[in-house]
Amino acid sequence: MNIIVTGGAGFIGSNFVFHMLKAHPDYRIICLDKLTYAGNLSTLEPVMDNPNFRFVKADICDKEAVDKLFEEEKPDIVVNFAAESHVDRSIENPQVFLETNILGTSVLMDASRKYGVKRYHQVSTDEVYGDLPLDRPDLFFTEQTPIHTSSPYSSSKAGADLLVLAYYRTYGLPVTISRCSNNYGPYHFPEKLIPLMIIRALHDESLPVYGDGLNVRDWLYVEDHCKAIDLIIHEGKVGEVYNVGGHNEMANIDIVKLILKELGKSEDLITYVTDRKGHDRRYAIDPTKIHNELGWLPETKFADGIVKTIKWYLDNEAWWQPIISGEYQNYYEKMYGDK
Ligand code: NAD
Ligand code: DAU
Repeated sequence: MNIIVTGGAGFIGSNFVFHMLKAHPDYRIICLDKLTYAGNLSTLEPVMDNPNFRFVKADICDKEAVDKLFEEEKPDIVVNFAAESHVDRSIENPQVFLETNILGTSVLMDASRKYGVKRYHQVSTDEVYGDLPLDRPDLFFTEQTPIHTSSPYSSSKAGADLLVLAYYRTYGLPVTISRCSNNYGPYHFPEKLIPLMIIRALHDESLPVYGDGLNVRDWLYVEDHCKAIDLIIHEGKVGEVYNVGGHNEMANIDIVKLILKELGKSEDLITYVTDRKGHDRRYAIDPTKIHNELGWLPETKFADGIVKTIKWYLDNEAWWQPIISGEYQNYYEKMYGDK
């Protein structure tokens, strides 16, 4: 089985590459990644010499490069993680989100049609459903919840989802979509809440909490998300959407306080700052469908996962320090520039 994984040098994509190489030692995994600021090739260093792994630096919007790779590898499955993923950046500069997240998806699906890919899987997000009010804890996102986006990021992801379903209906491309809640775990880029707070707390820097800090996210350990995608690409029904989440809602301020407690730091570091524009109030996934149809259940409890994650950041300063300094962006040139 040949699987092209796009965005495999990012947070979830790299965890997925590691998971697949371990879970399916007979599969060949080809990672296609542009190495934007969010892609870090050093993350993939442990598998670079694995004969079942290949890394290719390319942009999913580059039709020629994508077609060339599909021609060479004749993939059975494509899993698309490649995206601009940070809401705050989308508010500053929406355009690149539309290019990568929507146009890039169409380039990948065109190649998938041309080369007869057996499954195209789109990694989407619960953010396409918009948000839920804090005073209605009985409400959850199901696969039937209407698309109702808030940010340029979520709008671009929703646009891609609609296009994926259109390729299924119009061309019969065998697609699946997963819509997952907030992930956390190793290799999470330190612009996102949990790694940002861990690293700033370690440096005794102020912790910027947006608005009143009461916004709720539904956190899932990244490995559980990877296992869900592995199940969907093998056993999921073509043309279907699967919500992925672990019923683990937490207010931002509680996460920040938990991190401070684990690190033995003072809550005085917390600084309330101007709210994110259009800030979604609450996300909460109903994962009944993937549980009932595919038997998926999250395995890592938040209490364990967050301790494991904090320990990972304490033990892996060599991974995040070059990101803080910006040096990680020279890694590709240094290691592979002349190859
Ligand atoms: P990330 O920002 O950590 O990684 C994105 C990766 O995509 C990077 O390696 C980057 O170099 C690559 N990339 C970006 N533009 C590209 C392009 N034009 N061509 C090729 N590669 C490109 O993102 P992440 O948090 O790992 O998210 C991965 C996917 O999962 C995204 O599609 C995101 O929307 C979705 N998602 C994320 C979460 C979450 O909590 N992080 C939750 C649900 C869904
Ligand atoms: O729900 C899935 C989504 O989760 C993914 O689709 C996105 O790619 C991913 O980035 C994430 O989006 P969020 O906006 O929820 O994640 P972020 O880590 O940016 O923020 C989490 C919450 O913390 C959110 O309510 C904003 C708040 N926040 C964030 C940062 C970076 C702060 O209060 N302070 C901060 O400095």
